[in-house]
Amino acid sequence: MARHTELKYRTIFEAKENELEGLKAISANSRWKPAYHIHPQYGLINDPNGLAYFNGEYHVFFQWFPFDAIHGMKHWGHVKSTDLVNWERLPVAIVPVKDYESHGAYSGASLEVDGKLYMYYTGNIKYSAVERSANQCLAIMDKAGTITKYANNPIIEGVPEGYTGHVRDPKVFERNGRYYMLLGAQRTDLTGAIIVYDSANAIDWSFRGELKIDLEFPDSVYMLECPDFFELDGQDVMIFSPQGLKEEGHDYHNLYNVIYLLGKLDIENLTYQVECYQELEKGFDFYAPQTFVGKNKERLLFSWAGMGEVEYPSDRESWAHCLSVPRELGIVNGKLVQKPAQDLKLLRQTSNSGEMTISETGGEIGNPSDQYELDLNFNSIQSNKFGLELFVSETEGLVLEFDREQQIVSLNRENFEAAFGGEYGYVRSAELALGDNVKVQVFVDHSIAEIFINDGEVVFTARVFPKAESKGIRMFSDGNISCSYSKYELAQGISI
Ligand code: FRU
Repeated sequence: MARHTELKYRTIFEAKENELEGLKAISANSRWKPAYHIHPQYGLINDPNGLAYFNGEYHVFFQWFPFDAIHGMKHWGHVKSTDLVNWERLPVAIVPVKDYESHGAYSGASLEVDGKLYMYYTGNIKYSAVERSANQCLAIMDKAGTITKYANNPIIEGVPEGYTGHVRDPKVFERNGRYYMLLGAQRTDLTGAIIVYDSANAIDWSFRGELKIDLEFPDSVYMLECPDFFELDGQDVMIFSPQGLKEEGHDYHNLYNVIYLLGKLDIENLTYQVECYQELEKGFDFYAPQTFVGKNKERLLFSWAGMGEVEYPSDRESWAHCLSVPRELGIVNGKLVQKPAQDLKLLRQTSNSGEMTISETGGEIGNPSDQYELDLNFNSIQSNKFGLELFVSETEGLVLEFDREQQIVSLNRENFEAAFGGEYGYVRSAELALGDNVKVQVFVDHSIAEIFINDGEVVFTARVFPKAESKGIRMFSDGNISCSYSKYELAQGISI
């Protein structure tokens, strides 16, 4: 398929006169634009890519289609920061102008090699609406910030035998003096897999085979996207984004979902022994996360706070989606937990805190605003059902409800004039051991809420598109509870 036959496959270099300025002007007026979440000035953002702390700065790249709120020709957008919250927008990092990336520079990861940042990505090739192939490619950033595509790209041409054209999203790491590349793949029988290449120099790669994970995926899983691998607290952790999982109890309610594994990787023998297998997040808008090592050697994660094939209200304003806040990963009681990264505290401005007793009449936290952090402790809980409502007005509200009898927590986003995504349901839920205390930490930013419960034991990401007046915070309970809270107004971390 020649790329120029469709407007969808144009690069930013082919923008018409004043086209980009026009797009920027339409989307700049949006009330729903986040203030501290990485988001596009215009066009559509999806997966975080190439995440790195390199040469004293954080670099976040991301999938970006400039021209519309649709999945078209993907570029790598770029922001950087000396912390994890104040971002400078930089010129687009990878523009897919070459034949080996004719239909987009798809997702990938980066690795520092000999003082340079090696950025691995997939050159997407479409022959027709259904036929495709993939090349694995390399771009290199030096310490001056100059990004150059490797002259002998692609570093891996095409896909190995036994797999369809769906082979993508390289994650490269070093183990025992060798480099390994994991790729998400689809077998020719249309089931999902992870395949492995290895290399002595991080440039010349040999196909090793499929990673044998001792786990039966349901046959409905037709592709594994965005594999990630890292070591944390003596565990070998894998994260990936399977497509085709069917919902099961509280799990996998989104169109596509994210899984993590704890266990042991024997990369030389291509085996992974699973000790724990879980859904990573319980919210509506969480996909394709990637991790990397931060300034203090902590394991950090960003994810796409969005979902494919769902129409979002901001699409009408020529922009779509944002990334999650940065999160720090840990292992607690044999489970992976996600906490808001420490640097988010740098955004705090004014604060108000207080304590109150909540009964059937409920309680409110004042000073309504659009971009804040709320840290809450519910103590001496004597009720069965209680919770918190965000983005509250007379007609709207996002409802977080704890149910002690059933030992579950749920989040409901049905109650908005611009409700969306209803084809996948408006409620998400998780099991949670509920005693007398619960800790809730919330990050609200215009059209997104990220909710961390009990230090990241359960996390929900929800995009919502409230009316201008829907800013209130309300607590409710069917019995007595004490509640202490601190609310911090947060600064603008990225330009609109
Ligand atoms: C995941 C994904 C990746 C792909 C990219 C394209 O959201 O589908 O597999 O590389 O998005 O934008």
